[in-house]
Amino acid sequence: MPGLDAARAAALLADLGPLLPGLASPALVVDLDAVDHNIAAVLRRCGDDLGGRAADRWRPHVKTLKAAALVRRLWAAGVFRCKCATLDELQLLLEAAAEDGREDSLDVLLAYPLHEAAFHAAQRLAAAHPAARVHLLADSPDHALALDRWAGPGRPLDLHLDVDLGMARTGSPPAIWSDAVARLSSLSHLRIVGLHGYEGHLAWSQTDEAAAAYDRLCDLAAAFACIGTEPLELVTSGTHSFSAALDHPRLNGGSWRHRISPGTVVLSDLRSQPAAALLGLQQAAYVLARVISRGSDRVTLDAGSKAIAPDRPAPNCRLPAWPGLVALSPSEEHLPLRREHGALPEPGAAVLLVPDHVCTTVNLYRECLLFRSGHSPARAPVGASGHRLFSAQDLLA
Ligand SMILES: Cc1ncc(COP(=O)(O)O)c(C=O)c1O
Repeated sequence: MPGLDAARAAALLADLGPLLPGLASPALVVDLDAVDHNIAAVLRRCGDDLGGRAADRWRPHVKTLKAAALVRRLWAAGVFRCKCATLDELQLLLEAAAEDGREDSLDVLLAYPLHEAAFHAAQRLAAAHPAARVHLLADSPDHALALDRWAGPGRPLDLHLDVDLGMARTGSPPAIWSDAVARLSSLSHLRIVGLHGYEGHLAWSQTDEAAAAYDRLCDLAAAFACIGTEPLELVTSGTHSFSAALDHPRLNGGSWRHRISPGTVVLSDLRSQPAAALLGLQQAAYVLARVISRGSDRVTLDAGSKAIAPDRPAPNCRLPAWPGLVALSPSEEHLPLRREHGALPEPGAAVLLVPDHVCTTVNLYRECLLFRSGHSPARAPVGASGHRLFSAQDLLA
């Protein structure tokens, strides 16, 4: 399986060796060399031959990364545009950019339809970092008008219109947006700068359906071309469809700027195997676990649903070094594995797990261990995992 490189996982475990006697599990371990490798691979696919403009084609979703140390690897590669879904992620990005003196480079789309309280919290975060560019998302024409009312006078905020291309999760269908062009040209405190069309319902192989969806987005972009002073940005695609989007002739041409938004590609996981095979991704995030119980054909690890891919059915992970072990349904803190062939690891043995879904795995950790060849391992906060309390006013002591 591409990306499931037993030799690499074994080398990482060997590097962890000196730490293992004192390092409790479960622990999130990130291979920074693999992170940089994956970022470079995405940029190559975006067209590194464009002379440095490849970074301009990618607005990665940072819901996968959630740690400033990982976001900074994107910045080191020249990728300063990104997408996020939560206020925690927005805060992390703004604060890390401020810390690095890079606020004026950061350009973040909060790709989530905000209700009023969340809007005011986001506005407050953006106001504290005025040099950074923050874009918001409107779910419907009425929502755009409500956001405009909530925004009030002050620095105009950038707005993307969320276009439902068939996923039926958020956004409005193209016809609803195109009927509202006149109403939306009267927004006072928001500037329409883009269309957001996330086709997350489509699988890698559904390239015809994806092409039809992109055509609908381009038709809508033509209807909105009269609004705004800069070329509209069209944001599509995650890890499971970006390649079709990059190849779509109308997204590539036109008077707009198209950007893809895969985020999982930075760390990779079992679910992203088509993208991993295409790009030659390396697995960058693992859960370190230990055998806490052993039966005749079974071992149990200390990495249950509170440590790895809680949203995925069994098997929700693989062990590159132990291909004969298959993960069964976890409990909260226990993961039983059935032996299909080969040996069983000894009680206390440390193993590395590759999650089926890395985004929901990273979200379970408050800290991670960073590895880079030639450097000492370092611990880093996963600053945007979970949800903090956000309040628009200082209502909460
Ligand atoms: C709005 C949005 N954009 C982009 C993505 C892409 O993320 P990934 O690369 O993890 O598939 C997602 C994934 O859920 C998403 O919800």
